[in-house]
Amino acid sequence: MLEKLNPTGTLAWQNLRDHFFDLQFVKMQDLFAEDSERAQKFHVQWNDFILDFSKNRITTETLKLLTDLADEVSLKEAIEAMFSGKEINETENRAVLHTALRNQNLNNEVSETLIKIETFSNQIISGELVGTTGKPFTDIINLGIGGSDLGPKMVVEALVDYKNHLNSHFISNIDNDTISRKLKSLNPETTLVILVSKSFGTIETLKNAEIVRDWLVSNGMNTENHLVAVSSNIEKSIAFGINPENIFPMWDWVGGRFSLWSAVGLSISLNLGFTNFKQLLDGAYEMDQHFKTTSFDKNIPVVLALLSIWYNNFFGFETEAVVPYADCMKSVPSYLQQVIMESNGKNINREGFPVNYETGTIIWGEVGTNSQHAFFQLFHQGTKIIPTDFVGFIEPFEKSELHDLLMANFFAQTEALMNGKDGGIFAENNANDQNAAFKSFRGNRPSNTILIQKLTPKTLGSFLAMYEHKTFVQGVIWNIYSFDQFGVEYGKKLAENIADEFKTGKVGNHDSSTRFLLETFLRNK
Ligand code: F6P
Repeated sequence: MLEKLNPTGTLAWQNLRDHFFDLQFVKMQDLFAEDSERAQKFHVQWNDFILDFSKNRITTETLKLLTDLADEVSLKEAIEAMFSGKEINETENRAVLHTALRNQNLNNEVSETLIKIETFSNQIISGELVGTTGKPFTDIINLGIGGSDLGPKMVVEALVDYKNHLNSHFISNIDNDTISRKLKSLNPETTLVILVSKSFGTIETLKNAEIVRDWLVSNGMNTENHLVAVSSNIEKSIAFGINPENIFPMWDWVGGRFSLWSAVGLSISLNLGFTNFKQLLDGAYEMDQHFKTTSFDKNIPVVLALLSIWYNNFFGFETEAVVPYADCMKSVPSYLQQVIMESNGKNINREGFPVNYETGTIIWGEVGTNSQHAFFQLFHQGTKIIPTDFVGFIEPFEKSELHDLLMANFFAQTEALMNGKDGGIFAENNANDQNAAFKSFRGNRPSNTILIQKLTPKTLGSFLAMYEHKTFVQGVIWNIYSFDQFGVEYGKKLAENIADEFKTGKVGNHDSSTRFLLETFLRNK
């Protein structure tokens, strides 16, 4: 089990607080000027990854104190507890073993499922398995929401250059216009639908599934040939009409937001081929080994987590951005929002009491350079400081000069954020420029540079596991449970109650605002 320790009561936290008072106004520009070895000291090179974290408001002392904090909260033991399958998801009495899905010594049920995924993917891709009318499948719909959508969708998009001939579609929201528009554009004879729901009880997915099932039936299709399910609820899947042979299992020791490595990733395997899916798992496995065995000061996920704690809990910077310089990674920020905010958006500590410090950071972002032309103005000259992860690739999929220009922007932004620009001295026209003040940037804005050799299934796997582990480390330090999501589940329940009121046309017991809105909706719909 995880230790229950208020981090603010540790010696390391007290030392970090004192250290913060010494360091809060220190400028990174000066730290770089004083130490020509700074980049050498504050970077990690591992496999195809470089993490340069020298452009942060830290010194060697900061890193030492942060790793002391990790030691004092028994992070090493927590990592071992997770990997060894202890029930660290105590509020749900479950182990947390998404890492077992990419372990090379797989347990039986995991390896059997992988074989099932491989066989099925090969049969669909090759056209050996066909639809009701004998035609090979051309289109795959993934029906699921949250962790049953965001991960697979993001991976299929990010690895678009590895995609095969199958067209991929992801439907998550309960929006009739979206699903009916999509179904109008598809041929039921050649469409395979994967219903992905760990619980098989999520209303959005079930309603969309009913619509798709009706669409298949009304077009004369045998649903057994066109519907498969990924779920831990086998009974409900069968009751819905899925052939037991076409149910891919999931386990309660895999959280939804950590599930793309399981059969939830079936659409990844179908769209990219099983070999690429396996490479993704291998990349994650390698990051798992790095995380498990590397000392904290050189451990990429740990360093990222500690820096985030430094800014969130000592500087009071509430949000963080992630900016990948690759269009195909446009869904990475929303994927990370679920991983990070659903995990660590908690205000009760592991002893069951309210925390007296900040927890879960807010994560957001957009691809570069688009983000430069949208919200970077605030990064450079706003009153808020947004520590940012810049993610870039040395090699593009196809060599091109355009990539150099993209990466020139990537490097330029981190430099500008750190150095700023003194409008008085470097005023564009002359030192008496009346607008000099408006053109000056204070700089001293922190960023991490995550430079990866090339975007491949393997490096993407490592990259995603890196953020999973960063999130875990933060939850351990904050003394919260990162693997439940009771807040979201409460929202699901309330929506069901209101949906029932809509059916009867009678508004129940609500506050005056909600009541007014519900009555207005019912009157005017
Ligand atoms: O959004 C809340 C949530 O419970 C997520 O944790 C989960 O990924 C998603 O709903 C979908 O749940 P299911 O896979 O059971 O349909």
